[in-house]
This record gives sequence, structure tokens and C-alpha cells, in this order.
Amino acid sequence: MSEFKRTLVTTALPYANGPVHIGHLAGVYVPADIYVRYLRARGEDVLMIGGSDEHGVPITIKAQKEGVSPQVIVDRYHSIIKKSFEDFGISFDVYSRTSSKLHHELASEFFRKLYDDGKFIERSSMQFYDEKAGQFLADRYIIGTCPHCGSDRAYGDQCEACGTSLNATDLINPVSAITGNKPELRETKHWYLPLDRYESWLREWILDGHKEWKSNVYGQCKSWLDSGLQPRAVTRDLDWGVPVPIEGAEGKVLYVWFDAPIGYISATKELTPDWEKYWKDKSTRMIHFIGKDNIVFHCIIFPSMLKAEGSYILPDNVPANEFLNLEGDKISTSRNWAVWLHEYLEDFKDKQDVLRYVLTANAPETKDNDFTWKDFQARNNNELVAIYGNFVNRAIVLTHKYFDGIVPVRGELTEYDVQVLEEIPAIIKKVEDNLEYFHFREALKECMNLARLGNKYLADTEPWKLIKTDVERVKTILNISLQIAANLSSLTEPFMPFSAEKLRRFLNIAPIAWDEMGGNVLQAGHKISEAGLLFDKIEDDEINKQIDKLQATKKANELNNIKVADAKSDINFEEFQKLDIRAGKIIAAEKVAKTKKLLKLTIDTGIDKRTVVSGIAEYYTPEDVVGKQVSIVVNLAPKELKGIMSQGMILMAEDSDGKLVFVVPEKAVKAGSEIR
Ligand code: MF3
Ligand code: ZN
Repeated sequence: MSEFKRTLVTTALPYANGPVHIGHLAGVYVPADIYVRYLRARGEDVLMIGGSDEHGVPITIKAQKEGVSPQVIVDRYHSIIKKSFEDFGISFDVYSRTSSKLHHELASEFFRKLYDDGKFIERSSMQFYDEKAGQFLADRYIIGTCPHCGSDRAYGDQCEACGTSLNATDLINPVSAITGNKPELRETKHWYLPLDRYESWLREWILDGHKEWKSNVYGQCKSWLDSGLQPRAVTRDLDWGVPVPIEGAEGKVLYVWFDAPIGYISATKELTPDWEKYWKDKSTRMIHFIGKDNIVFHCIIFPSMLKAEGSYILPDNVPANEFLNLEGDKISTSRNWAVWLHEYLEDFKDKQDVLRYVLTANAPETKDNDFTWKDFQARNNNELVAIYGNFVNRAIVLTHKYFDGIVPVRGELTEYDVQVLEEIPAIIKKVEDNLEYFHFREALKECMNLARLGNKYLADTEPWKLIKTDVERVKTILNISLQIAANLSSLTEPFMPFSAEKLRRFLNIAPIAWDEMGGNVLQAGHKISEAGLLFDKIEDDEINKQIDKLQATKKANELNNIKVADAKSDINFEEFQKLDIRAGKIIAAEKVAKTKKLLKLTIDTGIDKRTVVSGIAEYYTPEDVVGKQVSIVVNLAPKELKGIMSQGMILMAEDSDGKLVFVVPEKAVKAGSEIR
């Protein structure tokens, strides 16, 4: 590892507003753990840093919903997360949390230093204030009508119906999510990190200096830098977080994305009095393991903060992963569409390595990938059981059967034997090279190739036949097979530490240091222990249980969605009848200038011809829609959108990809036909 003396591995701090799921594991914690275990095996000085991210608005919203303090929420999830990581073998040197006193102090000091050094700019802006609640409202706390699609449940930062990102002041009829009151605009002061000042430095550091970063990471950085950086507010009006350590900043806290990455530093400080060696010495190599949604924070904002502070090192690499989907759908904490780690550990006792294996074999390293339970089962049964487990079992069982469990003496080697023995270091080298470049799936594939090699060697040499005619030859074959098994116990340790340990127990050996692996690690005469099964077959009923669980979630979500819509409180039949919905037909369409989402449609409603502005331009071109039948609410009060009077609303539904599709009668009906 060249010019570096030690490595500091950080892992994105998960928000303590829910448990950890397989998406987190595949994207961040499993690859980071493999990497760290590998470096440790090589005797390198390495620390693995983790902790819970316990600030931010979603946590306060959850607390408010449950009527408890945010501390109660983060205490709950911090313990669930910490315990499940431990049980899963994620080998943090420290797993800390950002609500700790030490972190508050360090984050506060960090901010204060930048403030004193004049690294911030101060700006006043108008922000929504809820008089009744006596507080400024975070964007997520403001709900109103989306100016683009007309959805009445848009948030102050985003409309989830049409996906547009918004400013709270864009909302039509904004209300406070806390009290339901109409908020008023008030002036408030915040501190901004002027990222524009770091732009040319960032370009040089990343675009010229780190061309070796993964293309997805490099590409995202480039596109951020190419579109120009703006000053970013690093404080918020909120009462949960690290208080802004300046006079006159009462009621304000550090923005969660300002304090959270400093959490890496606090956690290191909590772990060791030597923390500065890891953070300030240029001979330390820092690696951030994160998911793709965190790239800008770790490649642009946090490095700018570190640069501004001046005494810290910068990351050497940020091997961010893409996303893992679950059974074809995006993983979602709020929709409960996930495989939760703590539940997996309960349902699949002692099968940590199966999940570690599947998540690595199928890691979203270069593109989004899909986790399915069928694939999980197939990889266990056809790969772990049939290849790795089977090989090890045969080598051990035959040694017991023919030689009382004593590693036999190797005789003269055939050309084939030599070839097989030479393969061992060649495969180890490939694993190393792949790990060096964060290619975890390939590295794991090579480990399995060593097991495949062993399997093939036994199948080709057939010791169970030879035993009748050539015992000496069988001794050599089993000696070599056991060497392969012993190497597997070391080579697979970073990936599957639990079964590696089990295998060492079967072989009755202590851990073999990485650099000692090779063709002669087990001495003739060594007594191995009894054989057991390294992996068990997973039956259909176990898998079906998991699939049923997800089905139930799907059902519950469908019911809930109706409820969410219903949450607008019941209406009676008369009220329903007030709605005048008609079948209509689009007779002309054009894009609304200077917008991405809007089409201006001319609709024949059967009553008249009128204009409707609709937020569907991302999904349909004007040519696509002309001639289409639609359902239109004709008695919606007209509203001006981008200078055009929109008279009515077209009914749309969202398909499973989030694309809007038309809601239309089952077969063509005449324009003006009432929909009831
Ligand atoms: N909590 C953030 C997330 O889950 C990650 C924070 S990483 C840190 O997306 F750098 F801020 F710590
Ligand atoms: Zn919208």
C-alpha cells in the first residue's frame, strides 16, 4: 500500500430513524468490512469507523408523530442498529453516535474555527414561521399545492407526486404540518459555506488528481462542478441538533450534513487518544464507504469543510456504490419495503455469511442491482453448499475415513498436482488485486474459484476409487486437498468470517496469516477435527415465508395508500357529486416554454374546448398525446400556471416505475360522457 502508513475507513453514518436494511449493507457496510478485514489480515494499521447519524428533520418528524422526544427515537434505533451490526460481524473499531457530548463539542469547535477564520458568509432570507408552534418550519414541515402538477400534498422541498424539487415559497396555499396553520414569512439569518470559492481547487483535486476514482463517483463530481457551485447554508432553524455556537444564534442548529461527517472524527477521538494521527498525518489514507446518494457530501462539501479548517487530511478514495433494489422495487424505509437486518438475523440463525455472500456476489458496484429471495436461495444451494461446502466436506470426510483424520504425507507430485498447487498463489493474487481496486464481487468470485479448483481436483483424481489400488497416491491427493481447504479458511475470512472460523475448527487450526497462505500450510501428521456442514441447504418453505412477508407488506401498502388519500377525511355523497368528471379528448398539445414538466393541452370536453396545463411532459411528448381519450375534472376552479389559465385537471395514476399514466374509460366513449 505504497506511500501510506495506515488506513482510516469511514462508513456512512446511518440515520437513527429506522433499522438497517440490506440496501445499506450491500452499498456500504459489507464492502467496507471486507476491505478492513483484508487489511487487518495483512497486518496493516487500519481503523473502521461507524456510528449513528442522530440529527436531522426526519428524526424530529418521527418523534413528533409518536409524541416523544427525538432522543427517545435515536436511542431506540441506535441500539437496534448497533446490535445488528455486531451480530452480523461488521467489525467496527468504534460505533459511535452524533448525539454524544464529545461529538457536540467537536462539531461545535469545528464550526467555531471556521467562523472565527472568516470562512462563512452570513445571509438573511425569508423563511416560513409557524406562529402557533413558535418556530421556523423546515421544508419538510410545510405542505401545500404543487405549482407543477397540482397535487395538494407537496412538501416544501419536493413534490412526491411529480418528483419536482421545490422551494417552500413555490407552494400554493402552504400550511404548517405541525399545527395546520398558515405560516408567515419571516426574516432569518444563516451561515453559508461559500462552495464557489472552493470550485477551482476541487476541480484540480478531483478532476485532475483523482482520475482513478470509480467512474460513477468521478462523473457525479464532474457534473456538479461543471454546473457551478453555490454557497450552502450550514445552519438551520431547528431545536434538535448541535446548537450554533455564536451569540444571537439561539434556536439554530448546525445543518445535519455539516455535523454528521464530523462524526467520523468524533468517533475516532472517542476510540483513541491517537486520533490525530489518523486525521492529520499525511501518511494516513482515508477511504469513505458510502452509497451514491452521499457522493456530493463526501466528495465536495465535506472536503471543502476540511480544506477550510486546514489541519485535516482529505479522502484518498470514495468507492461509492449504486443502489440495491428488492424484488424489482426500490427499497424504502417508509414503505417498509426492505429486508431488515435484525429480522434477517432472527429468521436465519447462524446464516450471516449467506447474506454476506449474496450481497457481495450481487453487489451494486457499477449499476443498480436486484435482490430476490429466489436468487438468495439459489446462491446458497448451488454455490455455497454445492461448491464450497461440498469440497471441504469431502476432503475432511475422506481424510477421516482413510487416515484417521491425520494429514497424510505428500509423495511424488504429478504434473497435475504441481499445476493445482501453483493455482493457489495465482488465485490469492487475483483476490488481492481485485480488493485493491474495490472490486469485491470479482474478488469473491476468485475465492469461489479456489473451492471450484478443489472440487475439480477431487472429481478428476477420484481418490475413492484409487484407495483400493494406490494408497500412496491418495495420501498426496488428500494432502493437497486439505491445503486448499486451509487456504480457503483464510482467503474467505474477509468475506465470510463465520464460516471461515467454522472451517478452521474442522481443520483444527489457528488463523493463517495472509502472507503465509500457499501450498504448504498444513503439516503432515496434523490431526484435524470432525467434519460438519459448512453450509446448509435452504428449503423452499423458508424462502416462501420471506416472499409471503413481502407480499403482505405490498398488500398493507396498497390499503394504506387508500388510507393516505382518505386521510383527507371522509366526504359525503353530495360532496362527491359536486365533482364533475367527464370523458374528454386531447385535440392539441404543446410544450410550455421554459418548463420541463408542463404540457399545454386543448381538450374537447363535449361541453366546450378548453385549455388544461398538465405536468406530464417528462413522460409524454405532444405527439404522444394528441387524439388520446382522458378523464377530466371540468369544474375545478381555473388556475394560472406559468401565465396560462388552466381550466380543469386530467386524472393520472402513477405506475410502478413512478411514471404517470392516463386514467381512461375501459373503452372509448363519447366526449362529454360523465364519469361517476
Ligand atoms: N445519514 C446519512 C444517510 O443515511 C449519511 C451520513 S454520512 C456522514 O444518507 F458523513 F454524514 F456521516
Ligand atoms: Zn407536483
